[in-house]
Amino acid sequence: MYILAISSSPRIYGNTDLLLEEVLRGLHETRESTSDRGGDDIEKIRLSGLEISPCTQCDFCRQEGCCALQDDMQDIYPKLTKADGLILASPIYFMAHCAQAKLLIDRCQALWSRRYILKQPIQDPGRPRRRGIFISVGATRGSKVFAGVKITMKWFFDALEVEYWGNLLFEGLDAKGSVRDHPTALEEAYQLGCRAAREWS
Ligand SMILES: Cc1cc2nc3c(=O)[nH]c(=O)nc-3n(C[C@H](O)[C@H](O)[C@H](O)COP(=O)(O)O)c2cc1C
Repeated sequence: MYILAISSSPRIYGNTDLLLEEVLRGLHETRESTSDRGGDDIEKIRLSGLEISPCTQCDFCRQEGCCALQDDMQDIYPKLTKADGLILASPIYFMAHCAQAKLLIDRCQALWSRRYILKQPIQDPGRPRRRGIFISVGATRGSKVFAGVKITMKWFFDALEVEYWGNLLFEGLDAKGSVRDHPTALEEAYQLGCRAAREWS
């Protein structure tokens, strides 16, 4: 299996980044301990620092099924289409994804066009069903903190032909690394990774 983990926060070892690390640790350790499932390829990329331009809705992708903009996103597209498991981590900024994550999401309009306009599969042929996890953290508390990003993720994963398999959402965490003081968050992240390792085939 090839698992692509995308960390989008500009804070390296911030809250979402640490949660992502724990999910990957759970995934890796569980896979390694199951002899016939060892050897997975788990790749983590950080969006912060990459050059990813905003989608301009030039509609090139509606004809060609790929994006005309030549930047770091061109290296990410093949990883997105190859991934058997896709994990995106984003903090909440103004009740939405952070800009780094939203740039990537909008540029996946190219894959949406491939799937829904050109009627071409996203997934490489013969691969198992793709699964996705979304990780997010917000500083405030309230039932609506993650409402918007969850809707976005539903349609983002759908465009990529990925099943929206799991969420890891924590409110009330603001300071960098404060997730370490949360009573259960890192353990929940680790256990989610373990479960993914067992259930993703
Ligand atoms: C520009 C900006 C906007 C933010 N907007 C929100 C918000 O609307 N709601 C919220 O709960 N937290 C908001 N936050 C707080 C972050 O979501 C919070 O600090 C989170 O823990 C950051 O995660 P990270 O450490 O992974 O970057 C905002 C932070 C920044 C910098």
